[in-house]
Amino acid sequence: MSQEELKRLAAREALASVRSGMALGLGTGSTVRHLVDLLGEALRDGSLADIVAVPTSLRTAEQAGQLGIPLVKLGDHPRLDLTIDGADEVSPALDLIKGLGGALLREKMVAQASDRFVVIVDDSKLVERLGTKAPLPVEVIEWAVDAQARFLESTGARVTLRRDEAGQPVRSDNDNVFLDCRYPDGIEDPRALECAILHRAGTVDTGLFLGMADEVVVAGAEGIRTMRRTP
Ligand code: A5P
Repeated sequence: MSQEELKRLAAREALASVRSGMALGLGTGSTVRHLVDLLGEALRDGSLADIVAVPTSLRTAEQAGQLGIPLVKLGDHPRLDLTIDGADEVSPALDLIKGLGGALLREKMVAQASDRFVVIVDDSKLVERLGTKAPLPVEVIEWAVDAQARFLESTGARVTLRRDEAGQPVRSDNDNVFLDCRYPDGIEDPRALECAILHRAGTVDTGLFLGMADEVVVAGAEGIRTMRRTP
């Protein structure tokens, strides 16, 4: 099976948790793209109804809007029943790195507002230690970004400002920029790192999603399995 097929499989499995009448959070990225497609289909064929959704990015909002999925604002729906999102890395404890798609802040706000947070991935995203495959994205304000980069280097990372193909800094939907932090041996203590980075003025948020995922649906060559957080 191709990686795209695996992503769609994970998305299909997660869609089975969606019930008519729910208020949903819709994540961002290529895996969630499949979910949004399938949700649009389900609303069209009537197998689901009365759904409202909060998108975590302008990209997801655009796709969902085109498919006729009713969109609402988080401010008007401060409690969501279920959020489904992708991830860049998943640890055995269900901690995540997210944000390579540039939407980490809204993704975290929406996940925090949800009664249940389900993550969908193909098995290439599973790691023993966070930071071993993906860099840790940190969204920062643009002002004095070099000073922020030096601070992040002091945590042991090689830091790069994320740029687009034209060489321009990639901007988030909130008009901030991203510093991608590569830790040569992975992240030894994600909680301590999260705390240190969040305490630094100028940080908007990090791509560490710790203790947030309730379930991770993993699609691999052998099929689907669901990892559940132990209380
Ligand atoms: C978006 O900012 C990210 O957090 C995505 O959820 C993450 O990058 C997963 O994306 P893919 O499904 O495209 O791998």
